[in-house]
Formats: sequence, C-alpha cells, structure tokens
Amino acid sequence: MNMNRRAFLKTTGAGLVASAFPLSLVKMAFGNDSPAQDFTFGYISDAHIQQIKGNKFVRNWDMGLIRAVREANLLTPRPDFFMFGGDLAQLGKKEELDHGLEILSHLRGKVHYVIGEHDYYLDLGEYWQSKISPLCYSFDHKGVHFVVLNSILTYDTWTHKKWGTPMDRMLAMARLDNPGGSPFMVGEEQLTWLKKDLEKIHRGTPVVLFSHSPIQKIFKPWNFWTEDAEKVQALLKPFEKVTVIYGHVHQIEYNQIGNISFHAVMATAWPWPYPESYTQLASCMPKMTVPMNRADPFFERDATGWQFIDLSSGRAAVRYQLPDNTNRTVAYNTRAGRPEDLNYQDHGSRIPPQIHY
Ligand SMILES: [Fe+2]
Ligand SMILES: [Fe+2]
Repeated sequence: MNMNRRAFLKTTGAGLVASAFPLSLVKMAFGNDSPAQDFTFGYISDAHIQQIKGNKFVRNWDMGLIRAVREANLLTPRPDFFMFGGDLAQLGKKEELDHGLEILSHLRGKVHYVIGEHDYYLDLGEYWQSKISPLCYSFDHKGVHFVVLNSILTYDTWTHKKWGTPMDRMLAMARLDNPGGSPFMVGEEQLTWLKKDLEKIHRGTPVVLFSHSPIQKIFKPWNFWTEDAEKVQALLKPFEKVTVIYGHVHQIEYNQIGNISFHAVMATAWPWPYPESYTQLASCMPKMTVPMNRADPFFERDATGWQFIDLSSGRAAVRYQLPDNTNRTVAYNTRAGRPEDLNYQDHGSRIPPQIHY
C-alpha cells in the first residue's frame, strides 16, 4: 500500500477486509444515518456475443464472459445479486442472446438485466422482453431503491424510417463511429414513469440508477451520450444519495454532477479508446476520470474486466477486476463529496502514460 492510499484510507475512515479470493476488498464505513444496509453486488457488462455461423461464435468474446462468470462464482463474500449492463449480443440475434444467456446461466445468483443498443435495434427489444427482462423497471434491496432504464432509444423518425431490413438498422447503430446512427435518449414515456416511480421514495433513501449509455454527455459522435440526460438528472436531484452506473463505454469513467455520482463499468469483450486521446473533436470526458494505462495488442483480455460493487451506507464503491492489470477501486469520499480512485486519483501516484507499440 503506498502512502497516498494509506492517507486516503485514514482520512475517509475506511478499513481493509481480507478475502479468500485475490481481490482487494475495500469496505467503506462512513457511519452516517442512512437507512441502507451494507451489501455487495457483481456487475458484468458488454459481452458482445457474436455469431459467426451456426453454433460458431467469436471465441474471444465468449471467453471474456465465461471468465467473468467463473470468477464471480468464486467471490467471497457472495454478492447479493448480479447486474448485466447491456450489449449481451453483437447484432441482436436470437442465437447470440441465447448463447450469452447460456453462459450467464452458470452464474450463482439472481441476475438483473439492462438492455444495450446491440441487443435492441434488430427487433426493437421484442425477444429480450419475451425471454430476458422488461426494459424499464425498479426494485428495492436492503434499503436501496434501484432503477433500470432503457437509455438507448432514439427518435421514432430514425427508428421507423424506411430500412431495407431490420439488420440494416442494427448495423447502422452498431458502429462506434456511427455517422448513420442517432443520439440515444430515455424518452418522455420513461421520464413520466420515472417521475412516478420516484414520487413514492423517501428523499433520504439511496437511489441507484442503471442505464446502458451514460446519463451524462461525454462524446456525441460515439454515442457516449444521452440526449435527454439533464431531464433524468433533474428527476434525481431531490435525493441525497444518487449513483448512476452505466456500460457502453467499455472503460473506467467516474464523475460527480451535483448530487449524482457516475460510474462506468468495464466490458468483458474489448476496450474502447478514450475519446479525448483518440479524436481531434472536443470531448467532455469527466474531469474526475483518470484514464487507465493500457493497450497491449498481444493480450486478448487487455483493458477488459468486470466489477464488484459495495453499497455501504448507500454509496457505491466500484472495484474493477482487470485481468493482467492492477485492480482498481473507485469509492465515494464523503469529505470531497465525489467518487475517487484510491490508487490513481492523486497526481503524484499516477502511472505515467504508456508508450504504445
Ligand atoms: Fe458495448
Ligand atoms: Fe453499447
């Protein structure tokens, strides 16, 4: 443990808990009067299971998900439940979703699902809803209110325009650098539902919202963006402890906007580059984020991972499990009033940028 981390732990009153599994389990104890009880849940996202032909699937993406499931089953203590954060399939095909579900069926524990654009734009979520999960719902667990939104909707005029085939629409939305795509949004129908859902929740109750795209605006050309993000943020404003956890960006990002803490989760399939280091266009990478040192083209699991999340006193501490990389924890610091990376937040303790091949 380096001095900065030691100092951080001391100032935030956090203590270390030993684990049988080689994870750095950090238990945050903030001692406030929250009604929430401490617990953990696992988070696996962006598997992008891709069919080649018949029962042949891209091995690398399969292996990422299989590894996450295997390691999640070894965790001590057992997570209370798991989230899957969207993009289970690559092109929304039944075969891909079924194959992904088959792998996830080995997870020991209840799984809640968030839909991603790669799962949606072939049949507009029909198979997903019949077989996997509703697209928008909420549930309560140990004093925390959880909300799942479908944040990857877009304008009806785009969704229902004259496509040659549904797969043409899927392919137009599936690209990262997608000039043929359309901005993601939650939409009025879900906003009305969310307003109603939150009306019955006490202001002191911790709220955790799961979405696939970020409910903040980072980089529009890659749809690291939700067009009506501010409207969702406004509905969350009255609550004291709010966390938004999203997939889609395939990288570590964390941020604080007003009362809302944001955390992105890793993909099990592949990493996306950080927009600000990749493109000449202006991007709004969250200021809090410290980009990961990465990019080893010879390691198939490079910069992928999955996460184990502590909800202690209603605040999230996200522990990133990164194959062949230093595991990282981003936790809420009550003194600073924002999430911080225990190892890398401080400038003096950051790893210098890697020189790429
Ligand atoms: Fe994805
Ligand atoms: Fe996505």
